[in-house]
Amino acid sequence: MWIRGDGAGLGPFSGDLVDQYWQWEQDPAVLVGYGRQTPDSLDNRREGYQHQARGTDDQLRFTVYDMSGAEPAPVGTTAVLIDHHVRTGEFVIQLSAASRGRGIGTEATRLTLDYAFHITNLRCVYLAVLSPNTAAIRAYEKAGFRTIGERRQSGYWLGEPANETLMDAIPADFPGTSAVRHIVEPAL
Ligand SMILES: CC(C)(COP(=O)(O)OP(=O)(O)OC[C@H]1O[C@@H](n2cnc3c(N)ncnc32)[C@H](O)[C@@H]1OP(=O)(O)O)[C@@H](O)C(=O)NCCC(=O)NCCS
Repeated sequence: MWIRGDGAGLGPFSGDLVDQYWQWEQDPAVLVGYGRQTPDSLDNRREGYQHQARGTDDQLRFTVYDMSGAEPAPVGTTAVLIDHHVRTGEFVIQLSAASRGRGIGTEATRLTLDYAFHITNLRCVYLAVLSPNTAAIRAYEKAGFRTIGERRQSGYWLGEPANETLMDAIPADFPGTSAVRHIVEPAL
């Protein structure tokens, strides 16, 4: 586990878990949330993993762990796709259906921002989320993202055209204690 909070932790993105990543990604809520319109094949996902695993200079990728049991359990992934020219990155997240609605998405988002700001030294992390995806928007707000606008009619939600809410986060907005700082400067 690289960093952890009370209920969630971030660990390595791992080839051992790629079949689980694929399974979570085919859930209808994830397909609709991401705007993906066809299911992926396991073979294609395994090949895609190899590409992702070679691209870690330009991507933060983590497995999200549920820390509420006796052992940490993998339940999802987060990523930040980095633009080194301007020190920014685009955030994405997905959790397994069974792990949603318990605060894990909020905490995993916050931990990913913590890593992006305090280890990767990004100046801004941004995202676009379909506006009807109210649970995702609420989790992002609680984790430190702010709404900065809305892109009109740029996606689909359950067969209907939908707007996308645009959000960003900067280090000055980072809420509360940093788990990274606590590891680096435990005495402070
Ligand atoms: C988006 C996602 C990561 C959020 O993670 P999560 O663990 O379920 O979220 P949390 O439990 O931390 O927080 C969800 C918040 O939304 C609220 N919420 C849930 N359903 C809601 C709804 N229909 N309307 C309004 N708020 C809602 C919850 O009550 C909670 O807020 P609260 O703590 O103030 O009560 C997760 O649901 C997911 O993986 N969804 C599918 C993939 C996806 O849509 N990814 C985003 C693509 S941009």
